[in-house]
Amino acid sequence: MSKYIIDGGNSLDGTICVESAKNAFLPILAATILCEEQIILNKAPLFSDVVNMCDILERLGMKVKRQDDTLVIDGASATPRFVPVDVAKLLRSSIFTLGALLGRFKRARVAYPGGCDIGLRPIDLHLKGLRDMGVEITECHGVINCDATNLHGGIISLDFASVGATENLILTAVMGKERVEIVNCAREPEIVDMCNFLNKMGARIYGAGTSRIEIEPVKKLHGTEYTPIGDRIIAGTYLIATAITGGKIEVSGCNTQFFTSLIDKLRNSGCVLRAKGDKIYLKSPKTLKSVGFVETNVYPAFPTDLQAQILTMQTISQGCCVVQENIFESRFKFVPELIKMGARVRARDNTAVVEGVPSLSGAEVFAKDLRGGASLVLAGLCAKGYTTVNDISHIERGYVNLDKKLNELGAKIRREE
Ligand code: EPZ
Repeated sequence: MSKYIIDGGNSLDGTICVESAKNAFLPILAATILCEEQIILNKAPLFSDVVNMCDILERLGMKVKRQDDTLVIDGASATPRFVPVDVAKLLRSSIFTLGALLGRFKRARVAYPGGCDIGLRPIDLHLKGLRDMGVEITECHGVINCDATNLHGGIISLDFASVGATENLILTAVMGKERVEIVNCAREPEIVDMCNFLNKMGARIYGAGTSRIEIEPVKKLHGTEYTPIGDRIIAGTYLIATAITGGKIEVSGCNTQFFTSLIDKLRNSGCVLRAKGDKIYLKSPKTLKSVGFVETNVYPAFPTDLQAQILTMQTISQGCCVVQENIFESRFKFVPELIKMGARVRARDNTAVVEGVPSLSGAEVFAKDLRGGASLVLAGLCAKGYTTVNDISHIERGYVNLDKKLNELGAKIRREE
């Protein structure tokens, strides 16, 4: 298993432009299943999740060609083949093929998805919403069999504003028979981006970004060219990496309106920030102050995908901080690894109490999931001495060439097989 070896104590200083948003690009890739014509996707990131999603599209009979950072996708020969467990288990987003196959072919057979081990991650909200739209579903041997012959419209109410369930229902309804209204849907920018992409292909989706989305069905979608939004989680990760190492940075490529909750916390910690459009400048103070309290929740509240990163920052901030994780039930797996590095954290159920210490010390640690793993890299950047972060395949699902980019910013990190 590959690992990072980090020589800590070097502050970050420089500029960086973030990749396209992983959590926009993945549902957009699934949405290409709906279209028989050629689609061009620009700024295609090389996250392993994106590579695996392209593999699924090809297994469905589609043509996917990469030309530098552009993907040329042709769905003319797509068929509703079975999406088996060996690919479905590699990522959570394989579940979006369900909605897209139902949207185009009115039938689908997909194995249960994988994804970060940060909780049970059921798909009951996806399946309830599909059943409410008239989809007949049987589940056996870990496979979901769907028949949307009797697909109908109506008001579909989500018990929880699930990002994936919202996206899957939209994909199913876009070329349905009757108007669908989804109530209590998620409002993340990545959902808006997927809907903008679908509307550019001729779909008629209204209200994306609000908690009520309406879909007027259309007969067909046409080809298009599209550039997805920047990754707000990667942007936030670099800002926190700079804060924790006492440096300064300009991050570009992502609308700063998408992470105002983080900007607010970084200001409270003593960082100086100037944000305009898709550029943000941060200068870290000599000593970070604890932000006191972090509570994750659905957008636009503080994002669960930045919880591990800001908790790590609190381990060397002056004072005590309470971190409450309200989205996933098991998103503190990185905490025992931080404790090996001298962090003072007590985590129980969905709450962690962090008491800042003057510094962390380098250690041998193990990534357990994508964002927790990235946070161990951040801890290594500011720790005294060497840190080895093992099992970095978790991290490479959502960060490309992280070592190279951090070295360009002044860090000392190398990747070893
Ligand atoms: C998406 O996951 C993101 N992944 C996650 O990012 C992100 O953390 C999450 O949304 C929340 O913002 C992608 O977009 C590929 P949910 P998703 O459905 O769709 C429960 C990362 O690090 N739930 O909003 O799986 C679920 O267990 C990843 O980039 C049900 O109970 O998130 C969780 O507790 C991690 N039943 C909560 O809802 C369901 O049917 C939020 O899940 C679906 C979800």
